[in-house]
Amino acid sequence: HGTSRINDAGHLEIGGCDVTDLKAEYGTPLYIMDEQLVRRRCREYMEAYKASGLGFQVAYASKALSIMAMVRLADEEGMSLDVVSDGELYTALQAGFPAERIHFHGNNKTSEEIEMAIDAKIGCFVADNLVELNLLQAIAARKEVTVNVLLRVTPGVEAHTHEYTATGQTDSKFGFDIGNGAAYEAVKVTNDKTNLNLLGVHSHIGSQIFETEGFQLAVERVADFARTVKEGLDVEFKVVNLGGGFGIRYVEGDTPLQVSDYVKAITDAVKTYFTGIYSSLPEIWAEPGRSIVAEAGTTLYTVGTEKDIPGVRKYLAVDGGMTDNPRPALYQSKYEAMLANRANDPATEKVSIAGKCCESGDMLIWDVELPKAESGDLLAVASTGAYNYSMASNYNRIRRPAMVFVQNGQSDLVVRRESYQDIIVNDVVPERIAKQAV
Ligand code: LLP
Repeated sequence: HGTSRINDAGHLEIGGCDVTDLKAEYGTPLYIMDEQLVRRRCREYMEAYKASGLGFQVAYASKALSIMAMVRLADEEGMSLDVVSDGELYTALQAGFPAERIHFHGNNKTSEEIEMAIDAKIGCFVADNLVELNLLQAIAARKEVTVNVLLRVTPGVEAHTHEYTATGQTDSKFGFDIGNGAAYEAVKVTNDKTNLNLLGVHSHIGSQIFETEGFQLAVERVADFARTVKEGLDVEFKVVNLGGGFGIRYVEGDTPLQVSDYVKAITDAVKTYFTGIYSSLPEIWAEPGRSIVAEAGTTLYTVGTEKDIPGVRKYLAVDGGMTDNPRPALYQSKYEAMLANRANDPATEKVSIAGKCCESGDMLIWDVELPKAESGDLLAVASTGAYNYSMASNYNRIRRPAMVFVQNGQSDLVVRRESYQDIIVNDVVPERIAKQAV
């Protein structure tokens, strides 16, 4: 997908860049982002919401890939930004992202994070619980400002990959429950706080979701709640944020909808269920993360060693693994791979791709058909743009890879490869211990 193709040399080419050239210039492992595909996804979202005729904001959920170049790109595409921590907020501010379009999430924001965000004059807080509402009010009052608030509510709809469940009560660490009255109470509390301006509500039902039913059910529940709040408290929600969660294709058999179809299903549900509650429909905000960046990402590895256990399995090890992509180890996520320097060679053997960490669970792919690979070959793993770099670690003190954006035959470094110095930069050896060295 995207701008990938196999060139005359039989090499994988992404954004017009031959991966063997990228390896020569940047080394491996390397995260390669197809910039045009990222931009296309941003535009699909913006255009689909525009087509709905509703007021809207599309906030890129930066947790999927929070780096300054991506934040700049999201700004260029007219998107808003969802941040969940001081670190993501700092990244956004350093990248010059307009603060008024930043939305701050999280179920345990610290006073320091709240102060930092208020001082930066961000657009709104998505408040998660009563402790936070009290803290927000206290800090806002001390600073003599009013802050915009969305209340995160749990509609009792929980989506898992390929399915959703509607439960009477939701066992989740996030948000105010609609079902047990907590959300209604939170509206009252927020409304009574002099330095909080209640914009509306937020609901996020899960991630990597293919069906629209879960979202439509959530819209219905939130609309019922909005009606109850309007009738009982005469409070109106100007904004309804429906979160992210739209699924992407990792492997054959994953069949996500087009962004436009998915957005239409949601906005149609809003028109159905919210009509008649207020004099006009609320603004609809969205927070896609994975679906903006995942498919645009490819991780390029160099094949190293192998272990063939006759009749059992052949392991092929690459120069990365769970440190750059923890998803298979964490979620048993599936990925597809190809031999990127011999892309036209027929697949002749079944292998499993191992990482280089000192841990049996460090596997990237179980059972993939590939041409017979040798040490030095290049392996490309697809759909690694979301929750890979952003969840990467230094386990075994492995240095995090570099990342490039590619487009029109040009590659630009957006994340430098970590250095040995980076690995020890925060280490301190107390004098007491250093003295004992022989
Ligand atoms: N908004 C909220 C409040 C969220 O919690 C999330 C994701 C998003 C938006 C973006 O959802 P997306 O469009 O990316 O599905 N690390 C996991 C995914 C965790 C998602 C957490 N929240 C993974 O690698 O699959």
